[in-house]
Amino acid sequence: MNKSGCLVNKGVFSAAVGANKQIGPRFWRLGLDFEGTAAKVFAGSQPGQFVEIDISQTALPSTEDIPEDLVDVADRKILLRRPFSFCDITVSGDKTSVEILYCVLGPASLRMTTLSKGNSVSIIGPLGNGFYIPDGKKTALLVTGGMGAGPLLHLAKVLKTNHPDIEVIAFVGAKTSAELPFEDLPAKIGTESGPWLAEFNQYQIESIVTTDDGSAGNKDFVTGSLARHLDKSAAGNDTIIYSCGPEAMLAKVAEIANENNIDCQVSMERRMACGIGLCQSCAVECKADEPGETLYKMCCKDGPVFDSKEVIFSL
Ligand SMILES: Cc1cc2nc3c(=O)[nH]c(=O)nc-3n(C[C@H](O)[C@H](O)[C@H](O)COP(=O)(O)OP(=O)(O)OC[C@H]3O[C@@H](n4cnc5c(N)ncnc54)[C@H](O)[C@@H]3O)c2cc1C
Ligand code: FES
Repeated sequence: MNKSGCLVNKGVFSAAVGANKQIGPRFWRLGLDFEGTAAKVFAGSQPGQFVEIDISQTALPSTEDIPEDLVDVADRKILLRRPFSFCDITVSGDKTSVEILYCVLGPASLRMTTLSKGNSVSIIGPLGNGFYIPDGKKTALLVTGGMGAGPLLHLAKVLKTNHPDIEVIAFVGAKTSAELPFEDLPAKIGTESGPWLAEFNQYQIESIVTTDDGSAGNKDFVTGSLARHLDKSAAGNDTIIYSCGPEAMLAKVAEIANENNIDCQVSMERRMACGIGLCQSCAVECKADEPGETLYKMCCKDGPVFDSKEVIFSL
């Protein structure tokens, strides 16, 4: 068993597409169903782990469905698998369903939008190390930026299911309300903590929403809301911060956690090729034991989740 309590072995598996639903202008949720060995393997995977999906055989959408900014890159050949983490895992009998919350950003994610029920895709996974829940924590603060919401939604479910005594609050940030990757957003999202996001609220977790332009929730960066909350509360050793989002945001979250002496785990993102520690394309600079010295760890194998104290963020 590893630090994240993971008992599973990774493998190359065929997944059946159960659903693929558009939930926002550029956001979709893809459901993948597994049976047999794969179902057992994915049933034991942890929030923060990910899969590498092969999209090379998947068709492009029709021309009118290709966003203008992707027209030039749409028909690029997809040579490499792409990494995606899970926003939910459901086990039902001997079947396991994994959901991926994804944003259409380039040729592979564009092709993913044409997957439909009955298709199958090849995936490698589950990969990497997920979020770790240490003993003795009473409060978990989830801090998400943009697409970082996916793995923290999965973590929210695991915390509520397996650790019901831990109080969980979600700090959710995006540039604008249109870039909040959630379905059925209320017409007005207030500046206080509230049941604004159904995806967190289903686990009785309140959220504090911030957008850079103030189009939903607080007009601020999500780290501003986190800092204000910690100024008002008596957080200490029994609190833990979990974060996923852009690296500049993670660096600020790590700084706030450090100033408040709070444990913090961050899910890092790197361009990935192999996903299993062989190609060295996903290096994350980390502090070595000797003061002032650094070493490189592989995001795909040693991460993507790291203790925030060990990472040297590249800004
Ligand atoms: C561990 C991990 C988990 C991820 N989980 C999710 C997820 O749950 N949902 C989701 O939507 N995306 C996730 N991603 C990002 C996802 O892998 C990329 O968006 C996808 O590979 C884009 O492929 P593409 O061909 O559509 O676009 P590309 O043309 O490959 O990329 C589009 C743009 O995004 C940038 N980009 C792509 N991948 C990365 C990366 N890894 N780090 C920094 N910038 C990048 C590129 O530089 C480019 O500007 C994850 C990445 C990692 C490493
Ligand atoms: S993606 Fe190849 S070593 Fe990490």
